Amino acid sequence: MPHSAAEQAKHKDNNLHFSDWVQGYWRANDWKLSANELLTFIKQHLELGVTTVDHASIYGNPSCESLFGESLKLAPELREKMQIVTKCGIQLNTNKDHRVSHYTSTAGDITKSVEQSLTRLNTDHIDALLIHRPDFLMDADEIASAFDQLKQQGKVLNFGVSNFSSSQFSLLESRLDFPLVTNQVEINPVNFEVIHDGTLDQLQQKRIRPMAWSCLAGGALFNGESEQIKRLRSTLNQVAEEHDHCNIESIIFAWIRALPSNPMLILGSGKIQRLESALESKSITLTREQWYRIWQASKGHPVP
Ligand SMILES: NC(=O)c1ccc[n+]([C@@H]2O[C@H](COP(=O)([O-])OP(=O)(O)OC[C@H]3O[C@@H](n4cnc5c(N)ncnc54)[C@H](OP(=O)(O)O)[C@@H]3O)[C@@H](O)[C@H]2O)c1
Repeated sequence: MPHSAAEQAKHKDNNLHFSDWVQGYWRANDWKLSANELLTFIKQHLELGVTTVDHASIYGNPSCESLFGESLKLAPELREKMQIVTKCGIQLNTNKDHRVSHYTSTAGDITKSVEQSLTRLNTDHIDALLIHRPDFLMDADEIASAFDQLKQQGKVLNFGVSNFSSSQFSLLESRLDFPLVTNQVEINPVNFEVIHDGTLDQLQQKRIRPMAWSCLAGGALFNGESEQIKRLRSTLNQVAEEHDHCNIESIIFAWIRALPSNPMLILGSGKIQRLESALESKSITLTREQWYRIWQASKGHPVP
């Protein structure tokens, strides 16, 4: 019988179930929470059904993975209640070993990044590992061999990508014996290139759910002063009024949820009230016309 979690992970079927809402940990350093306070936050979002957490090897200095791992060490029984997503493949020049920030997807670098993430997160397996950004020098065969080995070892159960074009997604998938589980991409009313460039069409075709990052444009929709953002804020406020004067975040989430590729939404705040309010927005459905009014406000012109 397998004993360690990694052994068990290797033997169980990879019945991955992401939650519809995902808690992002990119900004965890800014939250200034002690390990105990962060543990409380983790427990609260798990309780609310937000069981998938999003990390990356490069988030935070000190590392957000380490902050999370320190909290998890205080309550290791929580590990099986969550799905940990992390990413590899970006080398920042803030590390003195690197003269320029760059991407890497060599088998050695993928494996090393996973080992480091496992240590920092205090876990022996990752539920989904994503290549953070497409490496212009990526060799799909080499990535596939690294993925195979990590899967065999039970260190990573599933694999996906982030910020990949549809052709990059197809290329990598063509070398794998298993499907990629997601493409994590930016989707918000300020930037929704993926709606137009075929990225979401491909995911809809394959029935693979995207994960939407920076749904609120990193907060810019609340305080940005560009003409585009001012137009958007005005329209979002009008649509919010039409929905019982709800807050504009709820309208933004409903706008993203309307996409037929059925995105999972990654939340970026460390305030549990914001998360509760996001979950309450589930009942809001936009009319097609409301959806296109927001599209038009973003673009500054009507549809062709
Ligand atoms: N794959 C990638 O390349 C990639 C890139 C970026 C992000 N991500 C992932 O996506 C996650 C979410 O990204 P994000 O943090 O940019 O998400 P976001 O939800 O767009 O932005 C979060 C920011 O918005 C602020 N905010 C939220 N509600 C607000 C309100 N009502 N009024 C004013 N400010 C408000 C938050 O401030 P408070 O802290 O005060 O709530 C926080 O600073 C990250 O944690 C990361 O996991 C992935």
